[in-house]
Amino acid sequence: MPDDNNRDRPTAYDVLILGSGAAGLTLALRLAAAGRRIALLSKGALSEGGTLYAQGGISAVLDAEDSIESHVADTLAAGAGLCDERTVEFTVSRGRAAIEWLIERGVPFTPAEDDTGYAYHLTREGGHSHRRIIHAADTTGRAVETTLEGLARRAAGVEIFEHHAAVDLITDSRLGRPRERCLGAYVYDIAAERVRTFAARNVVLATGGANLAYLYSSNPHSASGDGIAMAWRAGCRVANMEFMQFHPTCLFHPRARSFLISEAVRGEGGHLCLPDGSRFMTHYHPDGELAPRDVVARAIDAEMKRLGLDHVWLDISHRDADFIQRHFPAIHARCLELGLDMTREPLPVVPAAHYTCGGVVTDLGGRTDLPGLYAIGETAYTGLHGANRMASNSLLECLVFATAAAESIESAWETVPAPPSLPPWDESRVTDSDEEVVVAHNWQELRRFMWDYVGIVRTNKRLARARHRVKLLRSEIHEFYGNYRVTPDLIELRNLVEVADLIVRSASDRKESRGLHYTLDYPETLPEAVPTVLVPDCYG
Ligand code: FAD
Ligand code: SIN
Repeated sequence: MPDDNNRDRPTAYDVLILGSGAAGLTLALRLAAAGRRIALLSKGALSEGGTLYAQGGISAVLDAEDSIESHVADTLAAGAGLCDERTVEFTVSRGRAAIEWLIERGVPFTPAEDDTGYAYHLTREGGHSHRRIIHAADTTGRAVETTLEGLARRAAGVEIFEHHAAVDLITDSRLGRPRERCLGAYVYDIAAERVRTFAARNVVLATGGANLAYLYSSNPHSASGDGIAMAWRAGCRVANMEFMQFHPTCLFHPRARSFLISEAVRGEGGHLCLPDGSRFMTHYHPDGELAPRDVVARAIDAEMKRLGLDHVWLDISHRDADFIQRHFPAIHARCLELGLDMTREPLPVVPAAHYTCGGVVTDLGGRTDLPGLYAIGETAYTGLHGANRMASNSLLECLVFATAAAESIESAWETVPAPPSLPPWDESRVTDSDEEVVVAHNWQELRRFMWDYVGIVRTNKRLARARHRVKLLRSEIHEFYGNYRVTPDLIELRNLVEVADLIVRSASDRKESRGLHYTLDYPETLPEAVPTVLVPDCYG
């Protein structure tokens, strides 16, 4: 741990990893195996984050009947013409090795039900033309996260800092130095209530997505876009932020608004129904309930608006009760706690913000625009997902790009300078806030108008309203940040307003409908697919 008696002395590491989900943990284990000294930070408990809640599984070409070409083609189709084909091929072709690495580390995937094919059970989800989702029942993320967490806690060279929230990156330009490199980060130690300085030869953003920008989200509290906002402030390009993915089926229940009902429920035969029990997805797409996620979420939204419903129904009760309990034990148990028995009745479901397809622009080695800074996992924009991520391609991306970033860091090792001495965090001009209510109020307001104006269906007018409100909130929050000591809530709010601005700007720039970005003012898809790349002001 940094020396408590010497508050200002920075702690220097080979690699500072911000975030301990599938991406951060994989990278930490890969680098520890290479003998590096690593600081692994999480802003809550080590296991808390998007990964812990992942249900359906991880996509990869594992079955002899499946092929790389087919997984690539499905990903490109789901991405609505906007995926980077090279990235898709790179990722998909590394899928099997990534899964084997997890199996070797002891992740308890569900075995196959017979011995005729691949050793593990493979399920189906929207957009996939084959069964290619390996899973640990319906708690795949928990199985991956806790297995890797256990290994990281025992790994030599990995120092763990839980409840440490990165505030900002430290760069040469921030220190007034001509060379431009990332040198470390200022980090708020939540227990000690003070900001510490971490110096490192390499810094990696693995902070997950920005889905808390919306009022209703399937995500845990960590998803406030911290890494994307920090990279943007440090001068990195950010791309495709308009493509925020809404998962079609979150449970509609006053005590469990963010609880996800896995797409695998539809993969194993679940139907989406209206109150009279009729199915509607076949009117929207030939693949019905297994159409890509953007299509299903939009169809549900349209039916809810058409009929004035609070939710639609997801029904798998026609399948055998044993099958349901075996494949979806956690979902079944959680619904039972809430008084819903999915083996006998349909579940009320609604769409909710789920995944950030855009993020910090990186190359195939996880490198950002700023030397010494990498971004991996949901924080990054690699080009894999295009305008709409296909189900279960996210954990795959975390594993593949964490491995690629480890290789990049190792291959550049000899050329990377040790970080200079870094100045401590300056608190000389701030005081304790006497109006925490401002933070709480702005937090609610931001997430509410993003839901209302920048949701599943957009218009120019709604986006203009959102732009206006983001501008006001942004200046209010910046002023607050300039005057008061940081707190965890203020750190997150400052980042949320930054990513909300990036989402609204990107959505306003796109004059067409494509994938997850659907606007009534430009319902057509343009012939040419072009990513939205935002360039920070520092590039003039
Ligand atoms: P996360 O796992 O989200 O971890 C982020 C980490 O960053 C946390 O440790 C957090 O503490 C830390 N952090 C954040 N901000 C800071 C900061 N300022 N300072 C320090 N640390 C910080 N994808 C699939 O492929 N298959 C699925 O079945 C699937 N199911 C899902 C179900 C749910 C309910 C959800 C929410 C997502 C699901 N996804 C699924 C998406 C997938 O889980 C995530 O995209 C993926 O886990 C992200 O991993 P990550 O390592 O990038 O970040
Ligand atoms: C789910 O289980 O439906 C989530 C899958 C994903 O987000 O990839």
